[in-house]
Parts: sequence; C-alpha cells; structure tokens
Amino acid sequence: MTTLIINIKELLQVRDSTILKVSGAEMAILPSIKNAFLVIKDNVIADFGSMEDLPNINPEKCIDADGKIVLPSWCDSHTHIVYAGNREQEFVDRINGLSYEEIANRGGGILNSAKKLNETTEEEIYQQSKTRLEEVMSLGTGAVEIKSGYGLTVEGELKMLRVIQRLAQNYPITIKATFLGAHAFPLKYKEDRKDYIDLIINEMLPEIAKHNLADFIDVFCETGYFTVEETEQIMEAGIQFGLKPKIHVNQFNSIGGIQVGIKHNALSVDHLEVMKPEDIEALKNTDTMPVALPSCSYFLSIPYTPAREMIAAGLPVALATDYNPGSTPSGNMNFVVATACIKMKMTPEEAINAATINGAYAMGISETHGSITIGKKANLIITKPIPSYYQLPYAFGSNLIETVLLEGEIFA
Ligand code: NIG
Ligand code: FE
Repeated sequence: MTTLIINIKELLQVRDSTILKVSGAEMAILPSIKNAFLVIKDNVIADFGSMEDLPNINPEKCIDADGKIVLPSWCDSHTHIVYAGNREQEFVDRINGLSYEEIANRGGGILNSAKKLNETTEEEIYQQSKTRLEEVMSLGTGAVEIKSGYGLTVEGELKMLRVIQRLAQNYPITIKATFLGAHAFPLKYKEDRKDYIDLIINEMLPEIAKHNLADFIDVFCETGYFTVEETEQIMEAGIQFGLKPKIHVNQFNSIGGIQVGIKHNALSVDHLEVMKPEDIEALKNTDTMPVALPSCSYFLSIPYTPAREMIAAGLPVALATDYNPGSTPSGNMNFVVATACIKMKMTPEEAINAATINGAYAMGISETHGSITIGKKANLIITKPIPSYYQLPYAFGSNLIETVLLEGEIFA
C-alpha cells in the first residue's frame, strides 16, 4: 500500500538517519521543507522532498495537506497510564491546602493507587487503560513508554506489565514497558525496607524476565522513597536481567540519583525539577537523556526543570507527559510542548525536538522513530490549516491536529 501526501505547507523534523538525539545549541534547529510531499510505503516513510521534485507515482491513497504542517508523531517517553480509578479526592485535598507529600504520608498517593490496582481485575484495568491510550494516540502520540509501579506486589506488578503487553499487541502504537516495582514501599514493609527490595530482586525481576514483560527498570529515587544506595542496588539487579535503567530523580530533592544513574549508563533521568550545578555538570558528555515533565510541574505547582540552563550547558532535553493519576492526570503532549515553551522558555524548535527525536532516544527507539527519515515508521501528525508551527505552542489548549497516521494508516 502506497500513500502520498502532497502540498504540505511545511514538513518538520527532516533528518538523515545518523541523528539519534540533539543537544545544546543544536536543539534550536528544526530542519524542514516548505511545500513538500511525503510517500509512505506500507508502514514506513519511503520518500519525501519538495513538491518541485514530486516523483511520478501511482499511490493507492493521496492526502492533500494544503495549508497544513506535517511532523513526526510525539514520542512520550515517560507515562504511568496503566492504573485503576483516579485520585480526584487528593486533587481537591491539595486545593484545600494539603501538600503532595502530606497526602502521601497519610497513606494516600502511590499507595492509594496501589490499593485500587490490587482490588481491580486485570480485564477492568485493561479497559480503563485502553481508553487513555486511545485518547493520547488521537492527540498525536505515536510511541509511548508505560511503567508498572502501582502493584507493589508480585501479582500486582505482573498484572500491570501484562496489561501493557496486551495494549502493545492490540494497538498500532509503539510501546516500551518499564518495571517500576521500586515506586514506593508498601505499608507492611515500611520498617523492613530490605525485605521489599529482596522481593523486587528475587521474586519480581526473575518472573518479569522469564515472561519478557519489560524493557527498562525504574526506581523513584527520592527522600521518603528509595535512597541512592537502594536505587543503585535495584538498578544493578535490573541490569543483570537485561533491563536498562530509566530513573525518577530530583523531583523534590537533589540527593545524588543523577550521578548513580549515569554511573550505570541510564538511558534517561526523569523529572529534574530540582537541579544543582553539579547535577548539570554530571550529565555533560554522557549517553543519558535528561527528561522534563512540565505538566507534572504545572499540576503540582512545583518548579519547572531548568531547561534553559541545561541547554546552555550543552545538554539534550526530552519532554514527556508523566501521565499518572497522582501528579499528572493528562497525557496530552501538545500541552507539554506548549507548557515547555511558556513556562520553561524553550523555543518551539527546541520543544518539538525534545518531544520527537529526543523522546524517541529516551525510549531507545530513535533509529525508527522521532523524525522524518526514509525507513522510519510512518507515524505522523497532520495539523489543521495553521499560519506556522508556532501555533502549536502559541494556541495552547486548542486541538490543532487534524489527522494522525500510525504505521502508515489513518488512526484518527
Ligand atoms: O512520576 N514521582 C513518582 N511517581 C509519579 C507520581 C506517582 C503518583 O503520584 O501516583 C511521578 O510523578
Ligand atoms: Fe513518573
């Protein structure tokens, strides 16, 4: 099946195949072709260029994108979209003055979601999660990472990872699975932290590896959650089972999580709302992608990741949603891109790079996703007619997407 898109007002993020991420000053450059065409063969990008060089082909399907922008679909490298129920009550409690930390300390937060998850059937969790996945796909996300971490029991964690696997089998979106058994200590292990870590290492990890249920291992390295030493121990165990680390660090405190992530060649370090100069220094010249989650900062009213300082230091930055019931009940990458521009002072070019090629890198898939490159997946966004791509962050809150193509087929 061949599909031809013609008269594209501007085709964004046009790259050759060697670029797997962009860093520092390169982030300000978003290569594009004005008045372009693009050819899709089966599920991949087969050709593209200026309309002046339009090849003489006979496609089965032709899309006229006159006045519209085409770009690679969003790559959302950090979500927790498999969960049960919601935490609306905690949201209202926060409006009324309680902090995220106070709610967690009285047994709410992650433990509240874990209780709900363990009380809900696998089928019901799948049904709830698929609705969220369909929504983010229609909002332009073409690749997504999904974490476990609301089970906190052997069965609960496996249940979540099976749901992720089933979503990956049933939808034309690329899904990477992350094991986050080290998301919080269940109440019964509060005094026996070592026992819970043993459970993760000796019972959860072998089962997950046996059934090939995860690509990555994650730990919430934070005061009140997992210490730097515990994080290192769990990461090392994950690596033994073939899982690459991606870790939650520096959300509320800078305690050395970034350094230990880099030491173990973490694919990404995520959150980074609180960054000391030595944290930025440590990330220089590493293969670890720093990931910012601006809709989490927005929802919790916590600082935004200092992207300007990081880019000025030559670092790459990726953007992701963190879609989860507690800190970010939204999976809208368009809002993330807009918020990065508005609140973090990233330019539209930097934000689009961060949400496409750098997001793909943070999932280990930038050889196949995140740019308009021959041979990469035909996962594309076609906008409504708009004056320029500046509209994407400028008209925040508007849905400017007209068509989403996944694996070369119209999804929405
Ligand atoms: O990335 N920070 C840790 N984990 C999630 C939130 C978990 C929750 O509140 O349910 C996050 O923000
Ligand atoms: Fe998260």
